[in-house]
Amino acid sequence: MRSFIVHTTFVSLLAWVTLTLALPSSKTANAPAATSTIGTNDAAQAAGKLYFGSATDNPFLNEDPTYKSILSNKSLFGQLSPENAMKWDATEPEQGVFTFTNGDAIVALAQANGQIMRGHNTVWGSQLPAWVSDSGFDNATLISVMQNHVSTVIGHYRGDMYSWDVVNEPFNDDGTFASNVFFDTIGEGYIELALQAASTADPNAKLYINDFNIEGEGAKATAMANLVSGLKERGVPIHGIGLESHFILGEVPTTLQAQMEAFTALGVEVAVTELDIRMTLPETDALLAQQQTDYQTVISACRAVADCVGVTVWEYTDKYSWVPGTFAGQGAADPWDENFELKPAYDGIIAGFSS
Ligand code: G3I
Repeated sequence: MRSFIVHTTFVSLLAWVTLTLALPSSKTANAPAATSTIGTNDAAQAAGKLYFGSATDNPFLNEDPTYKSILSNKSLFGQLSPENAMKWDATEPEQGVFTFTNGDAIVALAQANGQIMRGHNTVWGSQLPAWVSDSGFDNATLISVMQNHVSTVIGHYRGDMYSWDVVNEPFNDDGTFASNVFFDTIGEGYIELALQAASTADPNAKLYINDFNIEGEGAKATAMANLVSGLKERGVPIHGIGLESHFILGEVPTTLQAQMEAFTALGVEVAVTELDIRMTLPETDALLAQQQTDYQTVISACRAVADCVGVTVWEYTDKYSWVPGTFAGQGAADPWDENFELKPAYDGIIAGFSS
């Protein structure tokens, strides 16, 4: 529940303005709050899952002790993902010059808290330094550059990671391969080469391919299944498919559980890797109730699929969500609000792990 502090010593006009600006018209001052008292990670583990986790980023950890304290509660979060700290532009900004300070800080925090880590990510067409994306490297040189990056980053964290998103977002929505410097130069073989380098660098990490819009049946999910099935046939190390799950309110695919089962039937595990459910602002009681239902739907699907190992939200609080910066007028996508109060979505998560 939102709380509003109205200082009685202030003139009533100021209080009125404050409330009017802060309170969306369709959301009551007594908007429903979560009532569950069990922790999200505790609920996940009680349901037989490995973890419920959150993405996190260094600026928030460094500057916001309340944020860090909640994130460090293992009853809530049993797993952390680096939102940006382990991406190529953060780890190898210049060729052959590696920086792990931010990533190391997140791993150290997770280890201090007894939380496991998902690594994110080594090979992706975005957040690449210009020396990679605009290099004009020939095929052999780019293969060597990519293998060196994967080996060095994953090797640095050898033994620290439960899993790695080795390849991120390789597909277009129509199921064709996304154009990026790796596909355009090396061809689809870049995926196999990256996975092999990752396996050598950390033989015990679960190696994932991660993408969005593969959470329901469709051309992109079929392309992912075909890719993974081919990799497995050829003995390429691939252990998991990450379903990002950046959903729009009311639009969780009805085939989510079926798609998870189709993927796990290939002999890999799945994970919900970047869950958030955005709405058009302002949030209202009705929208928050729909969000609760949607969170429950996603968690229930993972609960029902034996090889869905866990769920990660892409930041747990609306305060630090990537959504408003990318989708104008949308947000409120996470289970904690911007004041760190639990939203109805939290109850949806707990209910999803229970039924
Ligand atoms: O690092 C610079 C910093 O030097 C500069 O001062 C600042 C000014 O804007 O920008 C910083 O870079 C930002 C970066 O996050 C690190 O904070 C970028 O502008 C910003 O675009 C970038 O956004 C990230 C986005 O990936 C980039 O693609 C989001 O935080 C992150 O949540 C988002 O995460 C992705 C997953 O990796 C893959 N799946 C989709 C998901 C959402 O887009």
